[in-house]
Amino acid sequence: MIERCKFYDGWILKTQNTWYVISISESGALHNIYWGPSLHAEEDIPLPQFLIPSSFDGEKGYLPLEYPEWGGYLFSVPCVKITFPDGNRKTLLKYKCSELGKDAYGNDQLIITLVDGYYNIRVVLNYVVYENFDIIERFVEIFNEGTDYVILDIAHSASWNLPLNRDYRLTYCHGNWAREFNIKHIPIHEGKFVIESRKGHTSHDFNPWFMLDDLNRNATEESGEVWFGALAYSGNWKILVEKTPFGLTKAVGGINDFDSIFKLKPTKWFRNPSFFGGYTNKGFGQASRNLHNLQRKYVFPYNFKNTLRKVLYNSWEATMFNVNEEDQIKLAEKAASIGVELFVIDDGWFGARNNDRAGLGDWRVNPQKFPKGLGPLIEKVNSLGMDFGIWVEPEMVNEDSDLYRNHSDWVMRFPKCKPEKGRNQWNLNVAKPEVADFIFNSVDALLSNYNIKFIKWDMNKAITDPGWIEFENDRRKEIWIRYTWNLYEIFDRLRNKHPHVMFETCSGGGGRVDLGILHRTDQFWTSDNTNPYDRLIIQEGCSYVYSAKSMVAWVTDSGQFDLKYRFHSAMMGVLGIGANLHKWSENDFKLAKAMIEEYKKIRHIVQDGDLYRLISPQRSDFAAIQYVSRDKKESVIFCFRTTTHFGKCSIEIFPRGLEPTEMYSGKGLIGEISGKGIMDGGLKVQLPKDFSSEMLYFEAKKR
Ligand code: DGJ
Repeated sequence: MIERCKFYDGWILKTQNTWYVISISESGALHNIYWGPSLHAEEDIPLPQFLIPSSFDGEKGYLPLEYPEWGGYLFSVPCVKITFPDGNRKTLLKYKCSELGKDAYGNDQLIITLVDGYYNIRVVLNYVVYENFDIIERFVEIFNEGTDYVILDIAHSASWNLPLNRDYRLTYCHGNWAREFNIKHIPIHEGKFVIESRKGHTSHDFNPWFMLDDLNRNATEESGEVWFGALAYSGNWKILVEKTPFGLTKAVGGINDFDSIFKLKPTKWFRNPSFFGGYTNKGFGQASRNLHNLQRKYVFPYNFKNTLRKVLYNSWEATMFNVNEEDQIKLAEKAASIGVELFVIDDGWFGARNNDRAGLGDWRVNPQKFPKGLGPLIEKVNSLGMDFGIWVEPEMVNEDSDLYRNHSDWVMRFPKCKPEKGRNQWNLNVAKPEVADFIFNSVDALLSNYNIKFIKWDMNKAITDPGWIEFENDRRKEIWIRYTWNLYEIFDRLRNKHPHVMFETCSGGGGRVDLGILHRTDQFWTSDNTNPYDRLIIQEGCSYVYSAKSMVAWVTDSGQFDLKYRFHSAMMGVLGIGANLHKWSENDFKLAKAMIEEYKKIRHIVQDGDLYRLISPQRSDFAAIQYVSRDKKESVIFCFRTTTHFGKCSIEIFPRGLEPTEMYSGKGLIGEISGKGIMDGGLKVQLPKDFSSEMLYFEAKKR
C-alpha cells in the first residue's frame, strides 16, 4: 500500500511488516527518511537530523537523498551524472509531480517525476511495492526533452539509505570460476566498498546483491534486522556501499559507470535495471525466503513459473565433445530407465566442433555425428517419454568457423590490437543489430525445425576487447549497455515465438546468474564444479538470493563419494544427472531410480517451499538444509557429514518453519511430534561415516 505522508510531505510505502518513507524537502529534494519495521503513526517517524553545514559541505552532502544527482554539494556517490553539450556537468533535480498506479500484476506503484532546474531533463523514479514479501522494486527512466543530446555518465538504479549513525556489517558473495557464491561478512567503515563486474556478464567474481545488518547487534539466520537488495542486470554492474563522514550508510547500484556512457538523443529515454530492496527483522534466512518468493511469483518468466522443474540428464561430463547419434541414444535409454524427464545434449553437436578450437558460430548439425540431422535422436528421446533439450553458445565465435570466415568484422575488437582469445574463442559484438539478428535467427531455426523443449544457453568468455570500430566514435562506450539490452531482447523474442521452450542460463557455470536474466530464463547452471561436497558450500551461498527452483545441480562422477551423498547434494535444487551412465553398475541404476523417485515426491517442497539454512557447511563439519512446504504440512531436511573429529557421528538439528500445533510424523521422527516439539526439542540425526548423508521427510497428520 502507498499512502501520502502528511506529517513530512511525502509518501509511506507500506508492506506487510515494513515502512519506507520518502519526503519532499523545502528545496524540492527527495529524502528517504525512514526504512524499517512498520510504525503505528506518521508522528513516530524519527525526525531527520539537520546538521549545520560549513562552507565545505551542504545539505545535499549529509541528507539521505533518494536519487542523488551529481552537482553542487554532493561529494558522496551519486546516482546520476549528466554532461550537457554546452559543457555543463551539474544537474539539479527538483520534485515536479507524482502519480499512484498499479503495475501489470496489480501491485501498488508510485511514480515520482523530478526535473532539472535549467535543462530539459526529466527523471522519473518508479517504486513498486511487493507487500507480502516486504520488498520494493526501484527503477528510473531518464527523458531527454531538450533539442540536443546529453551524455549519461552515471545512471544508477537506486540509492538505498540505511538508518543514520549506526555501524553496519555487509554480507556479499565472491568467487571465481568453479568456486562461485562464497559468503563474506565485513564491517563497513567510513569510506567505500565496491563489488562489481567489468567482464560483460554478471561474473563468477561477485554477484549483484547485498545484505546489511547492524554490526553491534549481529543478525543471525533467524533473527535481527537485515536490509537487503538485489539488482536485476546481467551486464557490467556495480554496487557501492558507502559510509559518509556524516554517518549515512547507503548502498548505491546499477549499471557500472566504468568505461560506460550513454548518449541520449533528444526525445529519447533511458530505463535502467530494476533494483529490488527489502527489510526484515527476522534475520538472513527471512531475507532469502522473501527474495525466493519474489522470484517465484514475479521474476520468473510467466510460462513455467508455476511448473515444477524436470529431472534432466546432461551429457557434457560423460561425453564432452564426443557426441553422436548412436551413443546419445544409448545414454538416453539409460537415462529414461531411471526416471529422467528431460534429455539434454551439450556442446559438440554442431559445425566442426570436435574440440574447443572450432565450430562456434556454425549452428548447423554436424553431419558426421548426426547423419540424418537431430530428428532420429529427438524422436527416440520422445519415444522414451522424455523431452529433448540442446546446448548453444551463440554469443561466441571460433577463428576456425564459417561464421568467422564470412563475418570477421562481427568480432568485438579495438582498431589495432588483436582481441584476446579465451578457450580459443572470441566475443561476438552482440551490440550490433545484425549480430543480434543472426543469434536470434540461428536459435529460432533450431527451435522451428526440431521438437526442442529446452535450451541451455552458455557464455564462456569474459569480454576483453569491448571495441566497436564501425560505430560513431563518441558512442562506442555504449557497447556494454547495448550488448546486454540486445541479449535481453533476443531472449524476449525467442520466448515470445517459442513459449513452450524452457531456457537455462549458464556462463561457465554460475557466471550469469541474476534477477535480470532470471526474468528471461527459468533456471541456471550453478557451477562447473560438480563435486558434491564443494556444491554444499556453493549452493548455500547461492541460496542467499536465488530460489532452489532455479538452481540446477547434477549427480556426476566427480570425487569419491557415495552415490547417495551425490544425490542428496543435488536434490537440494533442480535435480540433474551428469554422470557417464555407461560406467554405472546395476546397483547404481537401482539406487538412482529409487532416489529420482524419491526426489519427484519431494521436489514440490524443495522447489516451491521455504528454505532454512540450519547448519552451514562453511562453519561446521556438518551441514543441514531444510525446506518446508508453503502450507507447512510437509518438510524435508538434507543432512551431511564431512569429517568428524573425536568420533562425533550424530548431529542435533533444530528445524524451523513448522506449524507449532500440528502433529508430524515420518522419516527422522520417532512417533508423532508436534511442530513446537520438533522446533524446540530438536532432532538427532545419525551420520555414521565421513561424507555420509541423510534425508528426513515428515508430514502433518491428516485431520
Ligand atoms: C561450460 C558449461 O558450464 C558446461 O556445463 C558445459 O556446457 C561446457 N561449457 C560446454 O562447453
